[in-house]
Amino acid sequence: MRALEVIDCHVLVIGSGGAGIRAAIEADRYGETVLLSKSITGKGGCTTMAEGGYNAVLRDTDACALHTEDTMRGGAYLNDPALVDALVHDAPARLSDLVSWGAVFDASADGEVAQRSFGGQCRPRTCYAGDRTGHEMIATLMERLRGSGVERIEETPAIELLKDSGRVCGALTLDRKGEVRAIRADAVVLATGGGARVYDVSTNSGTGSGDGFAIGYRAGAELIDMEMVQFHPTGAVYPYDARGRLVTEAVRGEGGRLINAAGERFMNCYDPERMELSTRDVVARAIATEVLEGRGTKNGGVWLDVTHLPARRIEERLPVMLEQFLRFGVDIRTEPMEVAPTAHHIMGGLSITPEGQTTLPGLFACGECSGGVHGANRLGGNALADTQVFGKRAGEAAGRSPERRATIDRVQVEAQEERLTAFFRGEVSPISVQRQLQQAMWDGAGIRRNESDLRTTLGTVGELNGAGLNAASGRNLTACCAVQNLCTTAGLIVRSALLRPESRGAHYRTDIVQTWDAQTSPFGHTRISLKGAGIEEAGR
Ligand code: FUM
Repeated sequence: MRALEVIDCHVLVIGSGGAGIRAAIEADRYGETVLLSKSITGKGGCTTMAEGGYNAVLRDTDACALHTEDTMRGGAYLNDPALVDALVHDAPARLSDLVSWGAVFDASADGEVAQRSFGGQCRPRTCYAGDRTGHEMIATLMERLRGSGVERIEETPAIELLKDSGRVCGALTLDRKGEVRAIRADAVVLATGGGARVYDVSTNSGTGSGDGFAIGYRAGAELIDMEMVQFHPTGAVYPYDARGRLVTEAVRGEGGRLINAAGERFMNCYDPERMELSTRDVVARAIATEVLEGRGTKNGGVWLDVTHLPARRIEERLPVMLEQFLRFGVDIRTEPMEVAPTAHHIMGGLSITPEGQTTLPGLFACGECSGGVHGANRLGGNALADTQVFGKRAGEAAGRSPERRATIDRVQVEAQEERLTAFFRGEVSPISVQRQLQQAMWDGAGIRRNESDLRTTLGTVGELNGAGLNAASGRNLTACCAVQNLCTTAGLIVRSALLRPESRGAHYRTDIVQTWDAQTSPFGHTRISLKGAGIEEAGR
């Protein structure tokens, strides 16, 4: 057997989206930091694809108390108040970091960062760079990263966390050729993003396979509220290959109207006060209901219309949307877009403190793989702020971890080597398992849920999880690991959904008659770990 190559560092950050890069930049101030990415750094996560914006209180006309109340109300009061407090109070300073590092956000006439309206917010609070805000942030973070001492390891996923005496002390990695290596670290930060790829239709890039949820869970960490999956109301419907692609909330922020096939502006029936700028859970359900009740377009969507806006405004504020739809053969200056809900974000995730500490010593988490800050429904614009606020906090806390020289446990290494070897004996194609899983999750654990469908889906997920995946060569091993992570993530979502006997935020149960609202709910967080699963009483 080949000797295991071991790389040593102080902090290992896994994942190179907005949160991971921010964490690595911060951790680097304390010691040698490795940034491990399964894609090319900065290219794989969702941050670079994020269009709409970054929420921060910047003006006297707004206040942190208002941002807090909007976030809690939008999250159906399931949010962890300490995390919300950190998000709201740190978001302006983290935005200033980006600006001072060279990020160019759109400016208003007074020369300050401009802010637009987004759903569920009582003030225009969303800072933006046209409709390519995440791209601007990643480009800026990459510049900063290049000037740091962070070592980058690319196109290499982490397949399992390593532990020594109950403490996380690194990870095993798998490169494109199928070679396993160990990275030993005093602290590990998971920043692997989300897992909305468990659904058939999703805004996420192919990298959104729930790796952090799965490897954190397998290592023994606790996850909360995994049933809370956000379906973004407006994903592209047509052409088929573009299904699910994000149509930014900024379109509605700029005044876009949702119209059904009968020509009605239907949000009037669901939230007459906030209309298209209601929260995402409400708007996504409204669109799904219109389609279900026969008022959808022939491709199963509704219309999103900006043709009443001046063409110049569309060109300046929504250039990516304009270009994207022109490629689909639709000029949004003169024709409506066809849209429908698409799986977008997982609000649940690894349970963390405001410093990003998970329930496992030595393990920190930030960004979408962590849970709690967004409660039962995330406000648009709060995710990009989350990446920067909790990326910095987790990077700093990990950096402050004491130095150790952990022992690498041969038993853990051999278990992973056996897991990989078994893929060469398997007979089932990972892509076919992935497709079946995505369809089952879309059909049985989507926007509208009931116990019977959830139980059926759980059965299917269990069968797919047990399928003997096949790797034709070492190069296919990473795909097998990713599909196993998707299956684990799907299982966590469905098991958590079965635990919550109420409709709340994005979790909508059609089989439950409910007498309470979010503020008077008898239920708190769902919690799930290797030790067990359950739902808390409210206020715990
Ligand atoms: O609609 C959007 O631009 C997405 C923003 C977000 O998820 O925060």
